[in-house]
Amino acid sequence: MEKSKYTITAALPYANGPLHLGHVAGVYLPSDIFVRFLRMKGHDVAFICGSDEHGAAITLRAKKEEISPKEIVDKYHTTLKNAFNDFDISFDIFHRTTTEIHEKTAQEFFLKLNKEGKFIEKKSKQYYDQQFEQFLADRYITGECPKCGHHEAYGDQCEKCGADLSPTELINPKSTLSGNTPVLKSTSHWYLPMDQHEGWLKKWIKEGIIDDKQQHDPSKWRKQVVGQCMSWIDGGLQARAMTRDLDWGVPVPVKGAEGKVLYVWLDAPIGYISATKQWALDQGKDWKDYWTGDRKLVHFIGKDNIVFHTIIFPIILKEFGELILPDNVPASEFLNLEGDKFSTSRNWAVWLHEYIERHPDKIDELKYTLTSIAPESKDSEFTWKEFQAKVNNELADILGNFVNRALVLTQKYYDGKVPTIGTPNAQDLEMIETIKSAPERIANLMYNYKIREAQNEAMQVARNGNKYLAENEPWKVIKTDPKRVETVMHIALQITAVLGNVLAPFLPNTAEKIRGFLGLDMVDWDNAASFELLKAEAMTEKPSILFQKIEDSLVEEEQNLLKASQKEKVISHAPQKELTSFDNFMGCDLRVGQITAAKKVKKADKLLELTVDTGLDQRTIVSGIAEHYSPEEVVGKKVTVLMNLPPRKIRGVVSNGMLLMAEGKDGELSFMLPEKNLPNGSLIG
Ligand code: 2FM
Ligand code: ZN
Repeated sequence: MEKSKYTITAALPYANGPLHLGHVAGVYLPSDIFVRFLRMKGHDVAFICGSDEHGAAITLRAKKEEISPKEIVDKYHTTLKNAFNDFDISFDIFHRTTTEIHEKTAQEFFLKLNKEGKFIEKKSKQYYDQQFEQFLADRYITGECPKCGHHEAYGDQCEKCGADLSPTELINPKSTLSGNTPVLKSTSHWYLPMDQHEGWLKKWIKEGIIDDKQQHDPSKWRKQVVGQCMSWIDGGLQARAMTRDLDWGVPVPVKGAEGKVLYVWLDAPIGYISATKQWALDQGKDWKDYWTGDRKLVHFIGKDNIVFHTIIFPIILKEFGELILPDNVPASEFLNLEGDKFSTSRNWAVWLHEYIERHPDKIDELKYTLTSIAPESKDSEFTWKEFQAKVNNELADILGNFVNRALVLTQKYYDGKVPTIGTPNAQDLEMIETIKSAPERIANLMYNYKIREAQNEAMQVARNGNKYLAENEPWKVIKTDPKRVETVMHIALQITAVLGNVLAPFLPNTAEKIRGFLGLDMVDWDNAASFELLKAEAMTEKPSILFQKIEDSLVEEEQNLLKASQKEKVISHAPQKELTSFDNFMGCDLRVGQITAAKKVKKADKLLELTVDTGLDQRTIVSGIAEHYSPEEVVGKKVTVLMNLPPRKIRGVVSNGMLLMAEGKDGELSFMLPEKNLPNGSLIG
């Protein structure tokens, strides 16, 4: 029997927004189920997660919300932590990468590797935004993907085809800060020569062998994970910079590296280790026991993180020395939502914390649905109709119905007391055998990371229970052979007890309720189906309904909510306006102007109060651009001013005129500028 020790990590979510069901189904729920199972199996387990608080994902969000990166991570770390807590994800620790212990750990890794010559320091030309005076790496730069042509590929990765990119490969690169085309400028960085590691990586991924101490079973790795790794390695690995010119991150702890921080993808996975250190400190344990020796390290991640967990981090771990490499990286594919991809920017998402707010009594219902459609080997889809079908036809009609029947009949026939088993017949014995062997079947699937199938196998126990009652019809037989009914009901109650155990990793609340009805405590996995848990004569409780059916109205409300909160994907071009007269047009006084000052209008999220130099005067214009531009961004900009609109009081401020703006198909705004730099006051028309 397998009794290995495990360190399980779940990808550290960026603290730049809430979690949606795609994250939950792909990473956090399967890891939690796996860990709950391992704990029941008696394995020594540490379950590690935390917020990923560095990188462009954070600073770009801070810019958007116009607050500091620190405020962003504080805000979203709390949102994430609360959502995990409310959804009952059983991390041993949910840590942060802005802590001192993390900064020290990440710096220690960098210094050791640097001292031992594992990095190559070199100068190169990198893209630079002259307006923002900043180098552009990763998400600071977008452009066309050279591999698939996607127009919004990032400087480090194309989210459409998964290609691993560097900024200089992008076609038509643009700065995400200013929208300008960047220039090349020289800078120096520390590179990880990944190309030097191709040999052992290949052997490790394909055959599972690094040395005689560390091995894994490559047949247990998901096909698509191995496929992605091999295609990267076969395509030729390139040296990758492990440092960045940024002011948010773990400072590079070397003299002369001021203004440089560690690459977030070096810093974040080390976050697993610093989180373990903090947890070990809190528990009086030694963190090294969780990262060395005879222990299995398993990273649960989404498919966009594969390269970092199967190539870059393993190189770092191996080069650091002594530390274990992952035994498996069960990466999931993507979950779609109602026929489309989850999209944060379009708000096409079901947010976990909002679901919990709306349906605090339906946690296990969501867990069950997400696991039964989990995108383990291919993309899958969540729909509210499917949610309804899973809850009504499976949870309520199969599981709820069986448990309820068994307990209600026990109340009716025996005042809640468990009858004796009497003399089981051949069919009973066959059923007992099937049920008794369920934990082992489920365990086999679990150890192979087939969590979706494992849940199905656990539900099979309820299906068998239903079948058993339907075939034996105790409600009829009670009139003719009450002794036989005692046997049938005893077996049905034992099956109920088994459900209270085997469902525990998947549906912890429901399993606890079932055990509660029977007055039982949780047992080890190996005793989950012992058929000796319930003793004859023990008292059972009157059951409450385990699952309420989902009404059509809930499905409609959720579908409508999703549509209503969606930001339009494509704003179609407005129809052409009616003809106007030449005189009307000539009556418009349009001029070149320049914004000289700007501030927000109090209590109006969309408005900026601008001072505009029109060449004739300095005037105040209130403009609805605050969601697109910050006051600092617009000062100095040349604009087109419609001068002779009658003055209008907007939110207490008198506005004299209007700025002409163009609106793109995604709702983005752009100032209308003359092609040449004409003096303020120049006439347009
Ligand atoms: O993709 C992401 O959301 C990253 N924050 C995952 C990091 S996983 C680990 F390396 F920390
Ligand atoms: Zn691509």
